[in-house]
Order: sequence, then C-alpha cells, then structure tokens
Amino acid sequence: MNLPLAALPCLAGLLALPAAAAEAANAAFASGHRPAVTLELKTRLARADAAAGAAFFERKCSQCHDGEKTGGHAKGPFLWNLFGRKAGAIAGFEFSPAMLRAGVSWDYATLDHYLADTERAVPGKAMNFVGIPDPALRAAVVLHLRTLNDAAPPLP
Ligand code: HEC
Repeated sequence: MNLPLAALPCLAGLLALPAAAAEAANAAFASGHRPAVTLELKTRLARADAAAGAAFFERKCSQCHDGEKTGGHAKGPFLWNLFGRKAGAIAGFEFSPAMLRAGVSWDYATLDHYLADTERAVPGKAMNFVGIPDPALRAAVVLHLRTLNDAAPPLP
C-alpha cells in the first residue's frame, strides 16, 4: 500500500514522541537523575561572567526571588544560603508537590541542570520560568547564586 506523502511527517512525529518523553523522564530529579560536576561544567564556571549573572538575576529572577541576605520569601522562595540545601526544604514557603519530590540538594550540577530546563528537571514545578538554554549565561547565573551565601561554597 502506498501511504499518502502527507501522512509521513505525522508518522515521524508518532515515532519520535515516546523517545522524547522517555528522555525527559530520565532527566527528572524525581526519576533518580543525579547530575555530576563534569569537567565541562567546571570549565564553564571558571569562564563564567559573574557580573552578567548578577545582571540576569536582577532582570529575570528578582521579580520572584529575594536575593538579599536580610530578605525573605516572595512569589518564589528565599534563595539565601541555597547551596547545600535540599530542594523544597526551606521553612515557610509552600512548595509544589513536584519540588517536594525532587529529592536533590542544590549544588553546582543540580542548579545547572534545573536552570537549563526547569520543567524537564522538575516536571510539574510551580516556578513560572522556562530556563536558560545558553550554557555560558546559565553558568554565570549559578556563579551569582553562589554569592548569595553567608560563606560562598568553593568553586568545583
Ligand atoms: C515567576 C516567578 C519566578 C521566576 C521568574 C523565577 N522563579 Fe525560581 N521559583 C519560583 C517558585 C514559585 C519556586 C517554587 C517552585 C515549586 O515549588 O515547584 C521557585 C523555586 C526556585 C528554586 C528552588 C529553591 C528551593 O529552595 O528548593 C531555585 C533554585 C530557583 N527558583 C531559582 C531561580 C532562578 C535562579 C531564577 C532566575 C533565573 C528563578 N528562580 C526565576 C518562582 C520563580
């Protein structure tokens, strides 16, 4: 039987979908994904532009997150002393069930993975921010998050 040509992209879509869904599920923290600090990430952090990260935080994140030491929760949870903290663990903020199930602690690798594509890392999360696809800019933001800390953790 000859398939009409118009049906081909449709079929291709059907075949591609389960693979994409499986990949997304494998990248979710709740499925056990534990990103490691790779040489690639170390290099990216070493080259990252902290000032660009601070400016991006101010422009995009600060509408929901308070970055001051003396601050508190806003639309999003308070981010001071984020490194080493379990996801969804800070008291006084109502996290989504998805974030409570994530089961990771925040470090260079988990933050880089989460901020790349928030829905892929934590499907069903309540943070209304898609992600930072640009790896260099993402590293810059992670580098800035490191400074929101009583004692900034050492670089990997
Ligand atoms: C529109 C509001 C909004 C924006 C913009 C936003 N966030 Fe969030 N963020 C949230 C909310 C709400 C949560 C809680 C998510 C949940 O419970 O699923 C959250 C959670 C987080 C967490 C997890 C905190 C914890 O204690 O587990 C981190 C880290 C984070 N955001 C970083 C960022 C960074 C960095 C940016 C900017 C690149 C950003 N967010 C932009 C609203 C926002």
